[in-house]
Amino acid sequence: MPDVELLKEQAGIAACRFVKDGMTVGLGTGSTVKYSIIEIARMISEEGMSLVGVPTSEDTRRLSEELGIPLLTIEDSGSLDLTIDGADEFDHNFDLIKGGGGALTREKVVALKSKSMVVVADHTKKVEILGSFDLPVEVDSDLWEGVRESISRICPGQVRLRANGPNPFQTDNHGFILDCSFGPTISNPKSLERAICDIPGVVEVGLFVGICDAVIVASSDGIDELIKSDGRI
Ligand code: A5P
Repeated sequence: MPDVELLKEQAGIAACRFVKDGMTVGLGTGSTVKYSIIEIARMISEEGMSLVGVPTSEDTRRLSEELGIPLLTIEDSGSLDLTIDGADEFDHNFDLIKGGGGALTREKVVALKSKSMVVVADHTKKVEILGSFDLPVEVDSDLWEGVRESISRICPGQVRLRANGPNPFQTDNHGFILDCSFGPTISNPKSLERAICDIPGVVEVGLFVGICDAVIVASSDGIDELIKSDGRI
């Protein structure tokens, strides 16, 4: 297994110490949280824990079903006890960029329905200021050109329509994704989130502000548990 893959596995498994018997858990999307999902399935089958998952994407739903995790849809779930998810970047305020996998809308809905959110990441995701990773914005597929024009007025770099081969990438909600090159300039993620969400045709923006309570970071030095001091964990 390449090194970074091992770090992802370590972070994914370590985060499951926050999972307790009887919980309903939001299951994030991506290559790091995949290991949390595998661990949750193990906790159910080997430790007999009673857990229910709420998947944030079709990929995660398929994986969870294959592993035998009992599931609820987002619509059918009430308040969730915990969400575990990955991130593309996190800063010292525990604010995040997410959506590299295109699942940001459902990820945000699930995280906001949860009593707490734990992020799993390797050390490469930690940044001083958000924005080196292009900010994903989900948009209505019929309105993307106008939205791109509006975002271009506030984005210093390029705003690109995400592609899937010769076609636009399509989200689980049949939206498109604009990847916006802000560069490491997002020092006030809340106001940028508001400004982008106010553009008609925007479905959701991949800034998660004030939602994450802890980040489990794996590096070659081991696992670091960063817990937000005024968070919910
Ligand atoms: C999915 O849409 C994303 O928000 C992922 O959570 C994020 O891209 C992190 O994924 P990896 O763990 O694969 O880097």
